[in-house]
Amino acid sequence: MVLRPPRLRDARTWSEIRLRNEQWLSPWEPTSPHTWEERNSPGSWPALHSALRSAARRGTMLPFMVYYGGRLVGQMNVSNVVHGALRSCTVGYWVDSVVAGRNVTPTALALVIDHCFNEVQLHRVEVDIRPENAPSLRVVEKLGLRREGFYERFLDIDGAWRDHIAFAVTYEELYGRSMVGRLAALPPEPSWRGVR
Ligand SMILES: CC(C)(COP(=O)(O)OP(=O)(O)OC[C@H]1O[C@@H](n2cnc3c(N)ncnc32)[C@H](O)[C@@H]1OP(=O)(O)O)[C@@H](O)C(=O)NCCC(=O)NCCS
Repeated sequence: MVLRPPRLRDARTWSEIRLRNEQWLSPWEPTSPHTWEERNSPGSWPALHSALRSAARRGTMLPFMVYYGGRLVGQMNVSNVVHGALRSCTVGYWVDSVVAGRNVTPTALALVIDHCFNEVQLHRVEVDIRPENAPSLRVVEKLGLRREGFYERFLDIDGAWRDHIAFAVTYEELYGRSMVGRLAALPPEPSWRGVR
Protein backbone atom coordinates (compact mmCIF):
# COMPACT_ATOMS: atom_id res chain seq x y z
CA MET A 1 0.00 0.00 0.00
CA VAL A 2 1.19 3.49 -0.86
CA LEU A 3 -0.19 6.83 0.31
CA ARG A 4 0.88 9.93 -1.55
CA PRO A 5 -0.30 13.48 -2.17
CA PRO A 6 -2.79 14.10 -5.01
CA ARG A 7 -1.40 14.87 -8.47
CA LEU A 8 -2.98 16.67 -11.40
CA ARG A 9 -2.59 13.57 -13.53
CA ASP A 10 -4.88 11.57 -11.18
CA ALA A 11 -7.87 13.18 -12.96
CA ARG A 12 -8.89 10.34 -15.26
CA THR A 13 -8.45 7.44 -12.85
CA TRP A 14 -9.99 9.36 -9.94
CA SER A 15 -13.00 10.33 -12.07
CA GLU A 16 -13.48 6.81 -13.46
CA ILE A 17 -13.57 5.34 -9.94
CA ARG A 18 -15.83 8.05 -8.53
CA LEU A 19 -18.36 7.91 -11.39
CA ARG A 20 -18.53 4.08 -11.25
CA ASN A 21 -19.05 4.19 -7.44
CA GLU A 22 -21.87 6.75 -7.19
CA GLN A 23 -24.27 4.42 -5.34
CA TRP A 24 -21.48 3.19 -3.07
CA LEU A 25 -20.15 6.63 -2.12
CA SER A 26 -22.96 9.18 -2.38
CA PRO A 27 -24.80 8.25 0.88
CA TRP A 28 -21.68 9.26 2.83
CA GLU A 29 -20.63 12.40 0.94
CA PRO A 30 -21.30 16.09 1.70
CA THR A 31 -24.48 17.58 0.28
CA SER A 32 -23.89 19.51 -2.95
CA PRO A 33 -26.01 21.57 -5.35
CA HIS A 34 -24.16 19.89 -8.23
CA THR A 35 -24.85 16.49 -9.78
CA TRP A 36 -22.55 13.54 -9.13
CA GLU A 37 -21.32 13.75 -12.74
CA GLU A 38 -20.51 17.45 -12.38
CA ARG A 39 -18.64 16.88 -9.12
CA ASN A 40 -16.69 13.87 -10.31
CA SER A 41 -15.91 14.46 -13.98
CA PRO A 42 -12.21 14.61 -14.97
CA GLY A 43 -12.74 18.35 -15.50
CA SER A 44 -13.67 18.87 -11.85
CA TRP A 45 -10.36 17.41 -10.60
CA PRO A 46 -8.01 20.39 -11.25
CA ALA A 47 -10.03 22.71 -8.98
CA LEU A 48 -10.32 20.04 -6.27
CA HIS A 49 -6.64 19.15 -6.63
CA SER A 50 -5.68 22.78 -6.30
CA ALA A 51 -7.90 23.24 -3.20
CA LEU A 52 -6.38 20.15 -1.58
CA ARG A 53 -2.82 21.22 -2.36
CA SER A 54 -3.29 24.78 -1.12
CA ALA A 55 -4.90 23.55 2.13
CA ALA A 56 -1.91 21.23 2.51
CA ARG A 57 0.50 24.15 1.95
CA ARG A 58 -1.36 26.15 4.61
CA GLY A 59 -0.98 23.19 6.97
CA THR A 60 -4.71 22.76 7.59
CA MET A 61 -4.98 19.49 5.69
CA LEU A 62 -3.01 16.41 4.61
CA PRO A 63 -4.65 14.97 1.49
CA PHE A 64 -3.63 11.41 0.52
CA MET A 65 -4.39 9.25 -2.50
CA VAL A 66 -4.51 5.58 -1.54
CA TYR A 67 -2.74 3.07 -3.81
CA TYR A 68 -3.20 -0.67 -3.43
CA GLY A 69 -1.61 -3.26 -5.70
CA GLY A 70 -0.22 -0.44 -7.83
CA ARG A 71 -3.68 1.05 -8.51
CA LEU A 72 -5.38 4.17 -7.19
CA VAL A 73 -8.25 2.86 -5.03
CA GLY A 74 -9.34 5.75 -2.82
CA GLN A 75 -8.61 8.83 -0.78
CA MET A 76 -7.84 9.56 2.84
CA ASN A 77 -8.01 13.20 3.88
CA VAL A 78 -6.69 14.54 7.15
CA SER A 79 -8.70 17.74 7.72
CA ASN A 80 -9.26 20.34 10.43
CA VAL A 81 -5.58 20.21 11.38
CA VAL A 82 -5.15 22.44 14.41
CA HIS A 83 -1.82 23.06 16.13
CA GLY A 84 -1.18 24.93 19.41
CA ALA A 85 -2.69 23.48 22.55
CA LEU A 86 -5.20 21.26 20.70
CA ARG A 87 -2.92 19.55 18.10
CA SER A 88 -5.81 17.57 16.63
CA CYS A 89 -7.26 16.57 13.25
CA THR A 90 -10.18 14.74 11.63
CA VAL A 91 -9.76 11.92 9.09
CA GLY A 92 -12.20 11.04 6.29
CA TYR A 93 -11.88 8.24 3.73
CA TRP A 94 -13.40 6.21 0.92
CA VAL A 95 -12.32 3.28 -1.25
CA ASP A 96 -13.41 1.80 -4.58
CA SER A 97 -16.06 -0.88 -3.90
CA VAL A 98 -14.01 -3.44 -5.85
CA VAL A 99 -11.39 -3.49 -3.08
CA ALA A 100 -13.84 -3.28 -0.14
CA GLY A 101 -13.29 -5.76 2.66
CA ARG A 102 -9.53 -6.20 2.13
CA ASN A 103 -8.41 -4.08 5.08
CA VAL A 104 -7.26 -1.30 2.76
CA THR A 105 -8.83 1.45 4.86
CA PRO A 106 -7.78 0.19 8.32
CA THR A 107 -4.21 -0.17 7.05
CA ALA A 108 -4.21 3.28 5.42
CA LEU A 109 -5.77 4.84 8.53
CA ALA A 110 -3.16 3.20 10.76
CA LEU A 111 -0.36 4.59 8.55
CA VAL A 112 -1.96 8.05 8.57
CA ILE A 113 -2.44 8.08 12.35
CA ASP A 114 1.21 7.11 12.86
CA HIS A 115 2.25 9.87 10.44
CA CYS A 116 0.07 12.44 12.27
CA PHE A 117 1.53 11.51 15.66
CA ASN A 118 5.16 11.17 14.61
CA GLU A 119 5.91 13.46 11.66
CA VAL A 120 3.17 16.10 12.14
CA GLN A 121 3.43 15.98 15.96
CA LEU A 122 -0.33 15.98 16.50
CA HIS A 123 -1.75 14.64 19.74
CA ARG A 124 -5.23 13.50 18.75
CA VAL A 125 -6.92 12.01 15.68
CA GLU A 126 -10.71 11.95 15.31
CA VAL A 127 -12.95 10.01 12.93
CA ASP A 128 -16.67 10.88 12.71
CA ILE A 129 -19.02 8.21 11.40
CA ARG A 130 -22.76 8.00 10.75
CA PRO A 131 -24.35 5.33 12.97
CA GLU A 132 -25.76 3.70 9.80
CA ASN A 133 -22.29 3.20 8.28
CA ALA A 134 -21.50 -0.32 9.48
CA PRO A 135 -18.39 -0.82 7.28
CA SER A 136 -16.81 2.41 8.54
CA LEU A 137 -17.67 1.58 12.17
CA ARG A 138 -15.85 -1.70 11.60
CA VAL A 139 -12.74 0.21 10.42
CA VAL A 140 -12.37 2.15 13.68
CA GLU A 141 -13.25 -0.96 15.65
CA LYS A 142 -10.34 -2.82 14.03
CA LEU A 143 -7.99 -0.03 15.10
CA GLY A 144 -9.40 0.12 18.61
CA LEU A 145 -10.32 3.81 18.42
CA ARG A 146 -12.16 5.06 21.48
CA ARG A 147 -15.83 6.05 21.15
CA GLU A 148 -15.87 9.63 22.36
CA GLY A 149 -19.32 11.03 21.80
CA PHE A 150 -22.46 11.39 19.75
CA TYR A 151 -22.93 14.54 17.67
CA GLU A 152 -26.55 15.26 16.74
CA ARG A 153 -27.18 16.75 13.27
CA PHE A 154 -23.42 17.19 12.95
CA LEU A 155 -22.66 17.18 9.21
CA ASP A 156 -24.66 18.01 6.08
CA ILE A 157 -24.37 14.67 4.29
CA ASP A 158 -26.38 13.38 1.33
CA GLY A 159 -29.08 16.02 1.64
CA ALA A 160 -29.65 16.26 5.41
CA TRP A 161 -28.00 17.06 8.74
CA ARG A 162 -26.78 13.67 9.94
CA ASP A 163 -25.92 12.42 13.42
CA HIS A 164 -22.35 11.12 13.82
CA ILE A 165 -20.49 9.04 16.36
CA ALA A 166 -17.09 10.52 17.21
CA PHE A 167 -14.14 8.18 17.66
CA ALA A 168 -10.69 9.35 18.71
CA VAL A 169 -7.24 8.26 19.73
CA THR A 170 -4.56 10.27 21.50
CA TYR A 171 -0.84 9.61 21.37
CA GLU A 172 -0.67 8.25 24.94
CA GLU A 173 -3.14 5.49 24.14
CA LEU A 174 -0.55 3.79 21.93
CA TYR A 175 1.90 3.38 24.84
CA GLY A 176 4.88 4.04 22.57
CA ARG A 177 3.74 1.53 19.94
CA SER A 178 2.58 2.28 16.41
CA MET A 179 -1.00 2.13 15.19
CA VAL A 180 0.17 -0.23 12.45
CA GLY A 181 1.50 -2.51 15.20
CA ARG A 182 -1.76 -2.21 17.10
CA LEU A 183 -3.73 -3.18 13.97
CA ALA A 184 -1.56 -6.25 13.49
CA ALA A 185 -1.94 -7.26 17.15
CA LEU A 186 -5.69 -6.73 17.62
CA PRO A 187 -7.94 -9.78 17.58
CA PRO A 188 -10.05 -9.98 14.41
CA GLU A 189 -13.28 -10.30 16.39
CA PRO A 190 -15.25 -7.18 17.28
CA SER A 191 -14.83 -5.83 20.80
CA TRP A 192 -17.85 -3.54 20.81
CA ARG A 193 -20.02 -4.57 17.83
CA GLY A 194 -23.55 -3.40 18.42
CA VAL A 195 -22.58 -0.39 20.55
CA ARG A 196 -24.16 2.74 19.08
C1 LIG B 1 -16.02 2.52 4.94
C2 LIG B 1 -14.99 2.03 3.92
C3 LIG B 1 -13.99 3.15 3.66
C4 LIG B 1 -14.27 0.80 4.53
O1 LIG B 1 -13.16 0.47 3.70
P1 LIG B 1 -12.56 -1.02 3.54
O2 LIG B 1 -11.21 -0.84 2.99
O3 LIG B 1 -13.52 -1.88 2.82
O4 LIG B 1 -12.49 -1.51 5.07
P2 LIG B 1 -12.40 -3.04 5.61
O5 LIG B 1 -11.71 -3.89 4.65
O6 LIG B 1 -11.91 -2.94 7.00
O7 LIG B 1 -13.94 -3.50 5.66
C5 LIG B 1 -14.77 -3.00 6.70
C6 LIG B 1 -16.08 -3.78 6.72
O8 LIG B 1 -16.82 -3.51 5.54
C7 LIG B 1 -17.70 -4.61 5.30
N1 LIG B 1 -17.58 -5.01 3.91
C8 LIG B 1 -16.64 -5.75 3.31
N2 LIG B 1 -16.88 -5.85 1.99
C9 LIG B 1 -17.98 -5.15 1.76
C10 LIG B 1 -18.74 -4.87 0.60
N3 LIG B 1 -18.39 -5.34 -0.60
N4 LIG B 1 -19.83 -4.11 0.72
C11 LIG B 1 -20.20 -3.60 1.92
N5 LIG B 1 -19.52 -3.82 3.06
C12 LIG B 1 -18.43 -4.59 2.97
C13 LIG B 1 -17.29 -5.74 6.23
O9 LIG B 1 -18.19 -5.77 7.32
C14 LIG B 1 -15.92 -5.27 6.70
O10 LIG B 1 -15.63 -5.76 8.00
P3 LIG B 1 -14.84 -7.16 8.15
O11 LIG B 1 -13.48 -6.96 7.57
O12 LIG B 1 -14.86 -7.41 9.61
O13 LIG B 1 -15.64 -8.19 7.37
C15 LIG B 1 -15.67 1.59 2.59
O14 LIG B 1 -16.71 0.70 2.90
C16 LIG B 1 -16.20 2.78 1.79
O15 LIG B 1 -15.47 3.42 1.04
N6 LIG B 1 -17.50 3.08 1.95
C17 LIG B 1 -18.11 4.19 1.24
C18 LIG B 1 -17.58 5.56 1.72
C19 LIG B 1 -17.62 5.69 3.21
O16 LIG B 1 -18.48 5.16 3.89
N7 LIG B 1 -16.64 6.43 3.77
C20 LIG B 1 -16.51 6.62 5.21
C21 LIG B 1 -17.36 7.70 5.71
S1 LIG B 1 -17.17 7.83 7.49
